[in-house]
Amino acid sequence: MNFHILTLFPEMIMNGLNTSIIGRAVNKGLLSIEAVNIRDYAFNKHQSVDDYPYGGGAGMLMQAEPVYLAYEAIAGKLAKKPRVVYLSPQGETFSQKMAEELAKEEELVLLCGHYEGIDERVLEEIVTDYVSIGDYVLTGGELPAMVMVDTISRLIPGVLHNDVSAEFESFQDHLLEYPQYSRPEEWRGKKVPSVLLSGHHANIEKWRREQSIIRTKERRPDLLQKCVDNGLLDKREMKFLRELDENIE
Ligand code: ADE
Repeated sequence: MNFHILTLFPEMIMNGLNTSIIGRAVNKGLLSIEAVNIRDYAFNKHQSVDDYPYGGGAGMLMQAEPVYLAYEAIAGKLAKKPRVVYLSPQGETFSQKMAEELAKEEELVLLCGHYEGIDERVLEEIVTDYVSIGDYVLTGGELPAMVMVDTISRLIPGVLHNDVSAEFESFQDHLLEYPQYSRPEEWRGKKVPSVLLSGHHANIEKWRREQSIIRTKERRPDLLQKCVDNGLLDKREMKFLRELDENIE
């Protein structure tokens, strides 16, 4: 996967993504991250890329031409037109499902806006997907782009140490992850649940699955309802859930 990020703050992107798991994946050649500075495509001597909005109103807008030239510099090198994601609170909310779908792309362009946004005409011309990372407003698209790169990258085979860990985690199987414990066996009077020390794998699996159900019920009842509606809990788990409900009532 090759990420191409169009931004006014390339150092923010590169500094944010060159460490830890993503940095290592880049070094291993499993993915590449290129931040293209839109300011390099400014067409006036002051290198400005923003201007006042027609019709008045607060703030400045990023102009169409530098964004388009920066896009062309990337797209011109590729065999086919890439998907171009514009990060915006007006987009579809980013999700694990969307990340899985985007992880299939060979090339992905992420366009980061700043100021009050970008001239609509260039968006109409190049953007294929509008994506928001949640119902709140940030000062620019860089953090959302980094969130997307991180989420998509960990789905690429080889990026995580342990191939199964992406599979079993929260959301992938529609339930939240069960609680985990490491050494010591007792910490400040709090003990590790005894089943985890039993070495009985079937019991451990059952306990973990039940903990996932309890946790999802407490923290994300909306997700648990989806699970039930889609028949993702087996008969025994449905019974466990009914018993939980009865105990609460
Ligand atoms: N730019 C500003 N706020 C944003 C958000 N919530 N998601 C994506 N891009 C944004």
